[in-house]
Amino acid sequence: MPEPLVFAHRGSSAALPEHTLAAYLQALDEGADGLECDVRLTRDGHLVCVHDRRLDRTSNGRGRVSAHTLAQLDQLDFGSWHPGGTSDDLTTDVPADPDRTRLLTLERLLAAVRDSGRTVRLLIETKHPTRYGGDVERRLVALLRQHGLADPRESDPVQVTVMSFSPLAVRRMRELAPRVPTVLLFEVIPRGLRLTRLPFGARIAGPGVNLLRARPQLVPALRAAGNQVYVWTVNEPDDLDLTLEAGVDGIITDRPALVLQRLGR
Ligand code: G3P
Ligand code: CA
Repeated sequence: MPEPLVFAHRGSSAALPEHTLAAYLQALDEGADGLECDVRLTRDGHLVCVHDRRLDRTSNGRGRVSAHTLAQLDQLDFGSWHPGGTSDDLTTDVPADPDRTRLLTLERLLAAVRDSGRTVRLLIETKHPTRYGGDVERRLVALLRQHGLADPRESDPVQVTVMSFSPLAVRRMRELAPRVPTVLLFEVIPRGLRLTRLPFGARIAGPGVNLLRARPQLVPALRAAGNQVYVWTVNEPDDLDLTLEAGVDGIITDRPALVLQRLGR
């Protein structure tokens, strides 16, 4: 059985507001191997780390992320909606610093990861590749090139993998940056998916944990065909048992400390 990598989903997002610098730094402190981050485009074409199409759930803003400029989004508070964004009880002083609960751009996240001085795996999920006609992937690859991450080497302190539910996005990544590994995410087995060969050069399958419950043989079948398997989003002890028994390569979780403790790390 492989020792799975532990990825912090949107940062250490059970404890602290998702997709904030606070949540990502906490995950690194806890010892996560990697960080998961959703990216989408602002009106003026910047890649920002926000999961939802709209701002309403995770900030004090309203409306679509894509209807706002970076300067407008920079005025918003992405921390106070979450108990961990305001609590004084936490052992970390992270939420007290508003700079750590403001909008996080992918550029800022890359800088923070570099500054951590650690080797960190970054799982970047492109959101809505069909809506923006390939712009998300093009801008992502341009940014990765600027940072020297589009032609990965083992010695790079930041190891980027790009994920999507959309085979189209996986194909674009293959065309734009063929050496960057990709994950094809899915909640149900996509029609026509051949487990022996993921589409468009994806090297990693990303099933949701609910699918593992329904199809316990899925992970061994994918791995026997030479794929790696990263499972999301594993937060509950039962799901963690299931995932570990299946023998996955990566666990994506809102609670990296819990998973690491279970792994004895
Ligand atoms: O890591 C994959 C997982 O993040 C996909 O679902 O909705 O949390 O982006 P979602
Ligand atoms: Ca995601």
